[in-house]
Amino acid sequence: MKTLIFNGSPRKNGDTVSLINKVIKNLTGEYKIINAYDCRINPCIDCRYCWNHDGCSIQDGMQEVYEYIEECDNILIASPIYFSELTGALLNVGSRLQTYFCARFFRKEKPIMKSKKGAIIVVGGGDGSVLKAYDTACCLLRHMNAYDILPVVYSHGTNDKPAIEDKTALSGVKGIAKFFNK
Ligand SMILES: Cc1cc2nc3c(=O)[nH]c(=O)nc-3n(C[C@H](O)[C@H](O)[C@H](O)COP(=O)(O)O)c2cc1C
Repeated sequence: MKTLIFNGSPRKNGDTVSLINKVIKNLTGEYKIINAYDCRINPCIDCRYCWNHDGCSIQDGMQEVYEYIEECDNILIASPIYFSELTGALLNVGSRLQTYFCARFFRKEKPIMKSKKGAIIVVGGGDGSVLKAYDTACCLLRHMNAYDILPVVYSHGTNDKPAIEDKTALSGVKGIAKFFNK
């Protein structure tokens, strides 16, 4: 079993990473983590290469991610919320999924054969709502052929209490591992 994990946080030992580590601890099989802040993946520039061609015109770290997306069984998107949204760096990486949208929309192709399970972790200091970020993450998961998606696991009070001390979030992350392992 293969699990792909997108980490939208710049903090190496922050709230998002602490919850990702809990998922990994309970996960079977192999996994790959894409750290949005240091993966050297460029954002989509809407060059429209993928309107007519398979893949992406930008040759960078995303090529390896495309391969893993196509073969994996599970995908986890985990991110802090910045201004009630996924972080900008994560959205930059996510923008490269446009090739999958274009395959379906313009070229009438099915770019990813294998369907995946998806899950989302969102952490926030406590301001606003996590729903916008969840909605965006669901959209990215659907681009990767993950339609079987768990309700969001969130810790939305990290200004007062680190996510790793949030019992509800901890039980949620265990649920993610269980769902993926099934
Ligand atoms: C630029 C910026 C914008 C933020 N916007 C929000 C927000 O809209 N709502 C919220 O609850 N927290 C917000 N936060 C707080 C982070 O989501 C919070 O500190 C989170 O726990 C950081 O997670 P990490 O340790 O995994 O990076 C923001 C933080 C930054 C730096």
